[in-house]
Amino acid sequence: MDNITILGIESSCDDTSAAVIRNGELLSNVIANQDVHIAYGGVVPELASRALQLNIVPTIHQAIKNASVSLSEIHAIAYTRGPGLMGSLLVGTSFAKGLALSLGVPLIDVNHLKAHVLVHFIHDNTPNFKPPTFPFLCLLVSGGNSQIVLVKSYSEMEIIGQTIDDAAGEAFDKCAKILGGPYPGGPFVDVMAQQGDAYAFNLNKPRIGGYQYSFSGLKTSFLYLVRDEMKKNPAFIEQRKTDLCASFQRTVVEILMEKLLKASQDYHISTIALAGGVSANSALRKAVENYAHIYNWTTFIPKLAFTTDNAAMVAITGMYKFKAGEYSDISLTPFAKTLV
Ligand code: KG4
Repeated sequence: MDNITILGIESSCDDTSAAVIRNGELLSNVIANQDVHIAYGGVVPELASRALQLNIVPTIHQAIKNASVSLSEIHAIAYTRGPGLMGSLLVGTSFAKGLALSLGVPLIDVNHLKAHVLVHFIHDNTPNFKPPTFPFLCLLVSGGNSQIVLVKSYSEMEIIGQTIDDAAGEAFDKCAKILGGPYPGGPFVDVMAQQGDAYAFNLNKPRIGGYQYSFSGLKTSFLYLVRDEMKKNPAFIEQRKTDLCASFQRTVVEILMEKLLKASQDYHISTIALAGGVSANSALRKAVENYAHIYNWTTFIPKLAFTTDNAAMVAITGMYKFKAGEYSDISLTPFAKTLV
C-alpha cells in the first residue's frame, strides 16, 4: 500500500495529543496541555479526563488540518490503550473506536511505553535522519516508569530492569515539592541545578542488585536532610536551593547511568537510546553523551518535543503494527497498569 497514513491519538494522562504520520514521516503533532493540575501539585485523574473530553475533538481536528490531509486518506487509527489513568484512557479509546468505525478503517491499540521507545523512528525532517538499529537498549524514564528496555524489534521489547518503588520523574517532582517548587518538578530542578554545586551534598544511593532501580530511599534522605537543616537555619532552602537541586539531580543521573552502563556491558550492546519525560533532563542528556565518548556508544537522544507524551509516537507505533497487520478488536478495553 502506498502512502500509509496513520492518525495517532494519545490520552494516557493529562495531555491530549493527535498526530498524523505518512510513511513514517511526521505531518503534524498537536498537544493540548492541562494547566488545571498546577494548583493541586499533581495530576487529578477526574479533572484530567474531563479536560480530555473537552480537548479531544479540537486537537484531532487541528492535527488533521496541520497535516493537510482529509479523513478519507487515513488508513488506520492508532490510540494509546495503556498504561495510564483509566478515565483518560477511556476518553481516547472511545473516540478512537468511534472514529475507526465511522471511517471504516482498522483500529490499532498501542502500548504507551513501547510508543515512547519508538519515538526514535519518527522522521521529522531532521537532516541525515538515522534511526537506531536493533537490538538497542532504551532507558525509559518518566513520571510513572524507570526502565531499561532491551529493544529487539519494533514489536519485541524486554524490560530487563525497572524501579521497585518510585519512578525517576516522581523523585524529581518530590524534590521540587520539598523545596516549595512547582509541579511538575523536573524542569524546575533542572533549571535550578544549572546554577548549583552538584557535589555540595551527599545523598543516599540505593544498594540494589541487577538492573533494578529504587528512588524512595534517595527521596527520604533528601527530605531528612532538608528537614534537619531547616531546624538549624530556617533560611536553609532559600540559601541552598540551587546546590540542593544540583546534588539531587547528580545523584539521580548517577543511579540511572550506573545500571545503564552495566546493562550495556553485560548485553554487549552499545546502541543506547533515551526516552520519556525525564529524558528532557539536561544533566542526563549530557551524561549519556559523555558515556558515548568514553564507551564508544552510538546514542539516540530524543528532541525535547518527543520526550513528553505525544501522539507522534503513537502514530509511528501504529504504522509498524499496521504494516504487520496487527489490528485490534473493537471490544478491546484500556489497561491502567502495564500488562505482563
Ligand atoms: O513522560 P512524561 O511526560 O509523563 C509520564 O510520566 O507519562 O514525564 C513526566 C515527568 C515528570 O515527573 C517531570 O517532572 C519529568 O518528567 N521531567 C523532568 C524534566 N522535564 C520533565 N525531569 C527532570 N528534568 C527535566 N528537565
